[in-house]
This record gives sequence, C-alpha cells and structure tokens, in this order.
Amino acid sequence: MTLQDVLDDHAALASTRWSVAGRDLELATKIGVRGAPGLDPALAALAEALGRGRAYLGSGPVLDATLSQGPLAAFARAEGIAARVLVSSAAARSAALASGTNEADVLDALPWDLAPASEGEVWWRPPGDRGTARLEAELRAWARAITPDGVVWGLWHKEEGGNRAERFASELFEHVEIVNRASGWRLVSLRGPRSDAAAPVAWHDWEGPDGAMRSLVGTYAGRRVDPGTAVLLDATALPTAPELSGARVLDLGCGTGLLARRALAQGAREVIALDDDLAAVRSTRAALEAASAEGRTDELAPSVTWSDLLAEAPRARDVDVVLMNPPFHVGRQVVGALSRAFVAAALTALRPGGRLLMVANRALPYERDLAAWATWRDVTPAGTKGFKVLDAQRH
Ligand SMILES: C[S@@+](CC[C@H](N)C(=O)[O-])C[C@H]1O[C@@H](n2cnc3c(N)ncnc32)[C@H](O)[C@@H]1O
Repeated sequence: MTLQDVLDDHAALASTRWSVAGRDLELATKIGVRGAPGLDPALAALAEALGRGRAYLGSGPVLDATLSQGPLAAFARAEGIAARVLVSSAAARSAALASGTNEADVLDALPWDLAPASEGEVWWRPPGDRGTARLEAELRAWARAITPDGVVWGLWHKEEGGNRAERFASELFEHVEIVNRASGWRLVSLRGPRSDAAAPVAWHDWEGPDGAMRSLVGTYAGRRVDPGTAVLLDATALPTAPELSGARVLDLGCGTGLLARRALAQGAREVIALDDDLAAVRSTRAALEAASAEGRTDELAPSVTWSDLLAEAPRARDVDVVLMNPPFHVGRQVVGALSRAFVAAALTALRPGGRLLMVANRALPYERDLAAWATWRDVTPAGTKGFKVLDAQRH
C-alpha cells in the first residue's frame, strides 16, 4: 500500500444505517468518527428510548450535540423538524455534512461558545473519556445555553462519569429525570436551568516543560504531560535527534501544543500544528500565544489548523521535521487504522530526507509501515519503560 492509499482510506466516507422509531436512516461515517465503521454504541440506547416514547422530539429547532455524524439531526429532518449539529471534531464534521446536514446548520463550536438562553432543545452525549472537568464545564454550558422552558436530553454511560453527571446536573437544573436505562446507558432529561448556576470554567493555566500553558478542559492529557509525550520531549534533546533549530516543524495531532512549544523553544524557523479536535486547536493557539508573550517566538507566525490529518493543511507538505504522539483510540475504541494513517500523513508531510520523531507504546506495531516508506531507527532514551521512540527519515 502506498502512503496515498492509506490517506485515501482514512479520508473515505462510508455509509452506515441507524434504525430509530420506525425509520431506517442512512448516515455517513469515516475513520476518526466515534463508532466507525459502525455507529457510536450510545446511539442504540438513544434509538431504544425514542422507539419506546421515553424521549421525543419537540417542535424544533433541535441541536444535535451527540459528537458523531449528527444522527439526531438526521432523524429530526426526517420528521420535518429543523435541526443543527454542534461539531468539535473535523472528522465528525465531514461525516455530518455527508449525512445530509447543510453547511449552514453545522456549528463549529464547543458548548460554552453558545449564547445564554439560545437553545430550546439539545441532545447531548458528553465525551465521557475526557475527564470530570470537561463534563462539568459542558453541563454548566448547557445550563446557561438552554432557554428557561427548554430541555437538554443527556445520554451517558454509568461507567463514563454517569453518576457524577447526575450529581452536577442536580445542582444546575430543577428537574433531572432518568427516562430510560439500556445496557449501562442512561437517557436523562434536564429541565429548569437554575439561574444562579456559575459559568463554565473552560480553561486551565499550568506550567509545561517549556513555559506557561493554557489548555481547554478535556484536551488530550489535560494539564499534565502524557508519559509518552514526556519520553518524546526527552528524545528531542538527544545528540542524534533531528535538528529543530531553523527547521520547519509539524506537530501532528497537537493536543495542548507541548510539541509545538518544544519546537519553538528550540528555535524552529516555522511551526505548523494541527488537530482534529477544536479544543486542541484552541489550546495549542493559546500555548503558542503564551510563548509569544514570553518573547520566545520573535517574528514567527505559527499556524495551528483544525484538520482531520492533512485535509485542511495544504502547507504541511514540505516540512523538515514531524513530531508526534499518534492516537490509537477514538473515544474508548481502539482504532489501528488511525495510527497507521498518522504515520502515512507524517511521511507525506515531510520533504524527501525529512525526519519523523514519534513516540508509541512499545507493543504497537509501527515498524513495518515505517520500513516500507522510510529508513527508521529505534532511538528510545535509555531507561525508558513502556514506550519507544522511532526516528524515521523519509526516502
Ligand atoms: C495521543 S494525543 C497527543 C497530543 C499531543 N501531541 C501530546 O503529545 O500531548 C493525539 C492527538 O491526536 C489528535 N487526533 C486524533 N485524530 C486525529 C486526526 N484524524 N487528525 C488530526 N488529529 C487527530 C487527538 O485529538 C489528540 O490531540
């Protein structure tokens, strides 16, 4: 398989079906969307509740904040009800458009961006894998965004912070009712937002290894350095590491922006960063602004792009060095094709002779692909446990 084949597979949209309340809806999905190649398991629970009449659509407009391709919006449209989709994943955005939501009905936003009392009906599936601070910030955001007579339908799993969600919800809403339980999922109606609820706290300020960091809650690793990333940061200081000073560097899957900050701190000529997650993009921008405030960027204008791999990053095709800690999960699901696509994207972004420095869990098999497309070495710093650092030079 060529690099382009892997990137084409990553970009390809596939079709899947959601049966809900007597309708059989065709939805699009792709690698990187929750549940792909099927559907987010939360949707089976939602379909059950809608089918049994435990939850129901109002007269609209409906806001679908279920994190995937806008399934609830597709259902609402089929019922003749206006609907929009809130997206913060670039992959989910393309799947929502391919599932029939108009561009004008896609809101590129996080819940706390919405104006107070602006929404009458929200269908919300919290990102249960992103920690308590994110859960609380989103709930506070909905309590603020919902109209006094509106409803938020919350769909969460008991093992993904469900009990905590219910506790926070009772502080923020007058009426919290579990309307359906199915396979560990609970559908909860939240009504009567309390007017004295405090505003969401969306930002964390913290100190990273290269200076001040500013990150949105729930961005990868939050306000700490992921252990794998720490190993990679150490490896950038090895005498054999690719030269960052004067280089054009891409931080692929930038999260809070630690790798981009390292590139800046080491005198990169240009820093490009991208992530599929809107919260990560905003966090990395904030981290690089903090670096600029500390006078570490001089004339640099780093570019941070919201992009599903290279889809929106046309300039990231001629870089000297890529730094990355590639993901291998979407939500809680392991998705091997995603990590493979990261390697393909990294090598595609490099100029011939350019270098990729990446960290991975020791058990994950990246070497075969690297050998097919590049010349690679294991440069794991001595004493490292559990991770490996691979240094690959593009043919
Ligand atoms: C393991 S985290 C690493 C984050 C950061 N580089 C660090 O080291 O802390 C992987 C990152 O890849 C991002 N990501 C996942 N799928 C992506 C995609 N298709 N395109 C771009 N970024 C993606 C995730 O949002 C996450 O921020």
